[in-house]
Amino acid sequence: MPKAHILNSFPRFFTTSCVLKHENPLGLPRKSGTPPQIPRRAGPVQRRPIPNVKKVIAVASGKGGVGKSTIAVNLAFALGLLRSNSASQSPTARLRVGILDLDIFGPSIPTLMGLRQSLEPELTASGAIRPLTNHGVPCMSMGFLLPRSPDSNSNEDTPVVWRGLMVQKAVQQLLFDVDWTGGAGGSGLDILVIDMPPGTGDVPLTLGQLVQVDGAVIVSTPQDVALSDVRKGIAMFKKVSVPITGLVLNQSNFICPTCATSHSLFGPPDAFRATAKSLELNVLAELPLVPGVSISSDEGRPVMLCQQDSTTEKGKIQWRAGMTHAAQVVWDKVSSP
Ligand SMILES: Nc1ncnc2c1ncn2[C@@H]1O[C@H](COP(=O)(O)OP(=O)(O)OP(=O)(O)O)[C@@H](O)[C@H]1O
Ligand SMILES: [Mg+2]
Repeated sequence: MPKAHILNSFPRFFTTSCVLKHENPLGLPRKSGTPPQIPRRAGPVQRRPIPNVKKVIAVASGKGGVGKSTIAVNLAFALGLLRSNSASQSPTARLRVGILDLDIFGPSIPTLMGLRQSLEPELTASGAIRPLTNHGVPCMSMGFLLPRSPDSNSNEDTPVVWRGLMVQKAVQQLLFDVDWTGGAGGSGLDILVIDMPPGTGDVPLTLGQLVQVDGAVIVSTPQDVALSDVRKGIAMFKKVSVPITGLVLNQSNFICPTCATSHSLFGPPDAFRATAKSLELNVLAELPLVPGVSISSDEGRPVMLCQQDSTTEKGKIQWRAGMTHAAQVVWDKVSSP
């Protein structure tokens, strides 16, 4: 699809937009004040907090398809089950969590959160995008902003055909122009979980340069090829001074539902553990391959939500226990002074 066509397909936003389109790829109304700028080479870094968000955690990996989005969503729900230790809130209050999908070219959050068929987000009076909420968790994704095909009334096959600068600007707008307050008078989020795209390109660099990120959770699978990309991802985050909170090994094993034997389908976890040790990084969880994880993800029901299931499936139990532990360590780390 030609670029101009994509750009002209955000009519609801473009009515008030008069800035250059590559400066405003989401076509948001112009706001007063200076937008944060991507630093020029060797220029000063201008990191800002995300408005109405206390802590930011990125879920990333140098490698595609290792389970970043699945883990980001379930980490968000596992965090949402933790109690807030804020003095200003009731001791029984849970953490307020949101999810931001920064995978501009391949957003998964609309599917994983059961928001594929939702209406497009609204703008607030000040021109910020209102997140969409399901299962009590607000989320924002490029997938909510893509135009729908008139035939299918779906945007799932709509590609984003943008060059680097457009992507940087779209990321910038998703970072700073989303209203996470949760409505009038809302108090914002305790923690925002960001689902990162694969690789070490524009998006993680833009995030690291513009935002104060409190930690990164790096996901890998046991294979050597994944571990090599993971090391590159870690090096990139270190370059932009994002602290690595820890590593998650996904699909570490498969527990046979019939005989309950554990099989290392993709090889033993030894190389992963050795990598974590040599980099002096925490292992937050080793999660099994569980068919139910994939099925409930496709249905938009994160496995962490199915906590009350009477399932005795060992894999799911191990998965939830791993995510719960990872969430507790992440929160302890990012919230410690
Ligand atoms: N532990 C698991 N058990 C079963 N299926 C899993 C597990 N982890 C991930 N999957 C499945 O693997 C597929 C890829 O997962 P996911 O989309 O989360 O990966 P990703 O790293 O975000 O991919 P991308 O790099 O394309 O963004 C999905 O179908 C997901 O349901
Ligand atoms: Mg993904």
